[in-house]
Amino acid sequence: MSTSPKPVKKVPIHLQSAQNRVYIKNGEIVNHDKSFKADVYIEDGVIKFVGPSSEITIPGGVRTIDASGLMIIPGGIDPHTHMQLPFGGAVAVDDFYHGTKAAVAGGTTMIIDFVLPNKHESMIEAYDKWRSWADPKVCCDYGLHVGITWWSKSVSEEIGILCKELGVNSFKTFMAYKGLYQLNDSDLLDVFERIRQLNGVAMVHAENGDIIAKNTQRLLAEGINGPEGHELSRPEEVEAEAVHRACVLAHQMKTPLFVSGLTSKSSAELVGRARRSGYCVFGETLASSLGRSMSGVPKGDRIYAITSPPIRESAETPRQLMKSLAYDDLQLTGSDNCTFNKEHKALGKGDFTKIPNGVNGVEDRMSLVWEKGVHAGLLDPCRFVAVTSTNAAKIFNIYPQKGRIAVGSDADIVIWNPNATRTISKDTHHHACDFNIFEGMTVHGVCEFVLVRGRICAERGNVRVAEGFGRFIPTPVRPPFVYDIIEGKVQSQPEEQHEEKHNGNVAKRFAELDIQIPVQEPISAMLAGNLAMPAEGSLCSTPSVRGRVDGHRDMQESSFSISEELDRSGVRACIKVKNPPGGKSSGFW
Ligand code: URP
Ligand code: ZN
Repeated sequence: MSTSPKPVKKVPIHLQSAQNRVYIKNGEIVNHDKSFKADVYIEDGVIKFVGPSSEITIPGGVRTIDASGLMIIPGGIDPHTHMQLPFGGAVAVDDFYHGTKAAVAGGTTMIIDFVLPNKHESMIEAYDKWRSWADPKVCCDYGLHVGITWWSKSVSEEIGILCKELGVNSFKTFMAYKGLYQLNDSDLLDVFERIRQLNGVAMVHAENGDIIAKNTQRLLAEGINGPEGHELSRPEEVEAEAVHRACVLAHQMKTPLFVSGLTSKSSAELVGRARRSGYCVFGETLASSLGRSMSGVPKGDRIYAITSPPIRESAETPRQLMKSLAYDDLQLTGSDNCTFNKEHKALGKGDFTKIPNGVNGVEDRMSLVWEKGVHAGLLDPCRFVAVTSTNAAKIFNIYPQKGRIAVGSDADIVIWNPNATRTISKDTHHHACDFNIFEGMTVHGVCEFVLVRGRICAERGNVRVAEGFGRFIPTPVRPPFVYDIIEGKVQSQPEEQHEEKHNGNVAKRFAELDIQIPVQEPISAMLAGNLAMPAEGSLCSTPSVRGRVDGHRDMQESSFSISEELDRSGVRACIKVKNPPGGKSSGFW
C-alpha cells in the first residue's frame, strides 16, 4: 500500500439501506496472492471499498467493526458437501439448514453440494429435488455439482441442459460403489468427452470399485466384519490406481479433472505428477483426513469415522496431505460433510459394508486447516485462503464474485483471529449429528465475525443465521482458470509454483522444519521406465521430519544446502533444502 501523498478521492456513501452497511477497520486483508492493511466498506451485500481510512468518509449509522490484530479473509468455500443425502439406508442428518448453519459458524460462506441421482433417474428431476430441499433452508450461498451415476443418450442430453440452463458446470463420476454409482472406463471416457464438449469440469471419486468388491467378499468370508474391514477392503493403492487411471482417461479426452476427496499421500503425489506433465488436474483433500488418522480414533469410535475413501490408519498421513497442499500438488480442501448419528452408523455393526459412509467437517474445516497448516508452519495465510476458498471459486468459475476481498466481490467475509483457540466438541458444534470426529481437539484460528453477503451471521461465538437467506449461485461453463490450461495458454503447475516449492517461501518454511521436498518426475518419465509405479511401501513411505516440535519452528538451522538424495523407497530423488539464501521467511505469521 503506497504512503505517498496523492489527491484523496473520497468514496461517496449512499444513505439508503442503513441495515446493510458495515465498515471494518484496522484489519489485515488476506487474499490468496497478497496480504495488506486496509479498511473494508460493505453495502447491500457487496464490497464497495477496500483501502486506507483516509480515502473514505463513513457517516453515522453504519455498523463499524474494529478488526485490529485480526485478519479479514474471504469466506470459506467448501466444494464438497452432502447435506440430507439419502445414503446406505439412512439420510444424512445435517440437512441444508443445520449443515449451512454449521458452515457459517466455522467461517464457510458457500458450499457446493452434490446432486446424486439414482440409477435411471433423470438428472434434471434430481436437480429439482435438491433445489427444493436447499432453497428454503440454506443459510449461506450454495452451488451444485451433479453426479453421473449411469450413462445413456438422455443423460448426455441432460448434461447439456444443466450446463446451458441450470447453472451447473461440474459433474461427478464414481469409480467405486459398484452396482450403485460406479461407471466403467468406457462410460467414463464418454462422460469426459461430453463434459469437454460443453466446457465443463469433470469430477471423480477415485477408488477401484471392482477391487473393493473382491476384497470385501474375501474379508467377510474370513470373518472380518468390523469397521477395520473398511480400510482393509480399500487400501491406499486401490485409491492410487484409480487416481492415476482417472487422470489418464481425462487427459486423453482433453477434459479438466477435479479429483475429489483424496485421503492418501500416494494419490496426492500422482495428482502432482499429472500436473507437472501438463495434465489439467486438480486435487482436493478433506478436513477429516487432514485432522485425523484412524490410529488416533479409539477402537470403539471407529465405526463413526467410516467414510470413503477412508481416513487412513497412518498417523503420518494428515501432515503429508498438508504438505501436498503447501506445494501445490493439491489445490483444495473440502469436508465431504455427510453426517449420520450413532444409531445410523450402528446399522453396520457386524457388517462394515452396511455402515452409512460419511463424517462431519463443514464447521471445523477452516480451523483445522489453520491449525494443521498455518499454525504448524506448513502454509502461509495466503495459501490458507487459496486452499479453503479462492481455488474453489476459480475452478468452478465464480471468482472474483466469491473467494476474494475486493471491490465488487460479494461481502462473504470472515474476520479471523489467528491466535484464539477453541476446543471442538459435539456438545457445542452446530451440526445436527451426535458425534464429532475431531472431538476434544483444540485448534487455533477462530472466527470473530462471519458475514454472508454483508449480513453478520456470526459474532464472537453467537451464530444468528437466517434460514433461506442463502442463494443458489450458478457456476458458468468454461472457467478460464481451467480452460486456459486445456487450451495451452498456461501450465497446470506454472514455473512460479515450481520455483515457490523449491526456492521460494515454501522451501524456506520447509527448511525451517527440516522437511525434504520430494522431486517427483512427471508421469511421462514414469512411463518411460525411469520411475516405478506407486505401490504400498514406496510412495506411501514416511518423509523425514526431524528436530521438530509441533507448533514451533526450529530456529537452530542456519546452513543452506541443496543435495539430491534418495528417500527410503530408493525410487525417488529428493531435494533437501536447509535454510535458503536470504534468511528465514518473514511473511505475515
Ligand atoms: O463416504 C462418503 N463421504 N459418503 C458420501 C458419498 C461419497 O463418497 O462422496
Ligand atoms: Zn463425497
